[in-house]
Amino acid sequence: MNAEKKITIIGAGMIGAGLAVNSALHGYRTILYDVCDLEIVKKRMEDIMDIMVKCGAAAKEQAAQAMELVSYTGDMKEAVEGALLVEECLPERLELKQSVYGRIQEITGAGTLIASSTSGLLPSKLQEGALYPEAIMAAHPYNPSYLLPLIELCGGKKTSRKNIEKAKEIFCEIGKVPIICQKEVEGFLVNKLSWACMSAAQEAVKNGLCSVEDIDKAIMFGPGMRMAVTGQLLTISLGCEGGFLALAEKYGKEPSAEDKLYAAGVEQEILNRLPEQGNTVESVCGFRDYMFAELLKLHGLL
Ligand SMILES: NC(=O)c1ccc[n+]([C@@H]2O[C@H](COP(=O)([O-])OP(=O)(O)OC[C@H]3O[C@@H](n4cnc5c(N)ncnc54)[C@H](O)[C@@H]3O)[C@@H](O)[C@H]2O)c1
Repeated sequence: MNAEKKITIIGAGMIGAGLAVNSALHGYRTILYDVCDLEIVKKRMEDIMDIMVKCGAAAKEQAAQAMELVSYTGDMKEAVEGALLVEECLPERLELKQSVYGRIQEITGAGTLIASSTSGLLPSKLQEGALYPEAIMAAHPYNPSYLLPLIELCGGKKTSRKNIEKAKEIFCEIGKVPIICQKEVEGFLVNKLSWACMSAAQEAVKNGLCSVEDIDKAIMFGPGMRMAVTGQLLTISLGCEGGFLALAEKYGKEPSAEDKLYAAGVEQEILNRLPEQGNTVESVCGFRDYMFAELLKLHGLL
């Protein structure tokens, strides 16, 4: 139980309430601050918790216990005092976010981390003019935030590395899977990948290559299934015995510096996987096949 530890959500809309549910389900005292009618926020939390129970992501008792850790306020001091982490989930307006950070940091000092769920504002901009810029970073979730574990952490020029590591630990504790975006780029990492896929899909439909339904089926029953288990680079590496280095040789090329970079990265990635998800090439393939079969059963195809 982490009930002595407190996470604050500032802006309890779609994203904020989802993250609050994760935090409470993992035993954190969770306080939601919003300027709207707090009954609406409460209802939103109850609805999301119900979804978690219905889809099997939480047991009924666990959800009820989690809700006891949740409180709601329109008072900023009460919201942020003593918080380990403030997840800022306000509308995407730079000046609003910056002015709220000023109010938060006057109360908390430098010790509370501020993680913004911004989809597109660069962290160096967010921390401009802040009292303690080293504590401010982006922590971009993926919708629906109550179920999808991804959090992209990205620091600005003044964010301390130590604070990013601290935030990473806290997000792991609330069941998220944080990744670190090492450079500030528009759309961080994930939107960039998703835009590339979206643009190729739109192009295919626009040029009459296939129907909308077929492009979605192509992703769902092909690359999307593989990506869900082994991402992109590991997937390609598994496609050829010997991985990236062998792949280059297969096409009569000397492995390039990039091939070597990807090969070393994939090797480390495999070692870092949990044993039950496969941490050798053979066991990763076994786990992948099991996951495919489970997913196909849910699709009614097996
Ligand atoms: N919606 C998505 O798919 C998505 C995905 C990832 C990241 N994001 C980012 O998350 C953030 C929030 O997005 P959302 O979709 O949850 O928005 P939303 O409109 O659903 O929620 C915003 C909440 O902030 C509250 N709010 C407005 N002004 C406030 C103030 N001054 N003080 C306190 N609360 C205030 C609103 O009442 C509302 O409850 C944005 O930065 C967005 O870019 C959104």
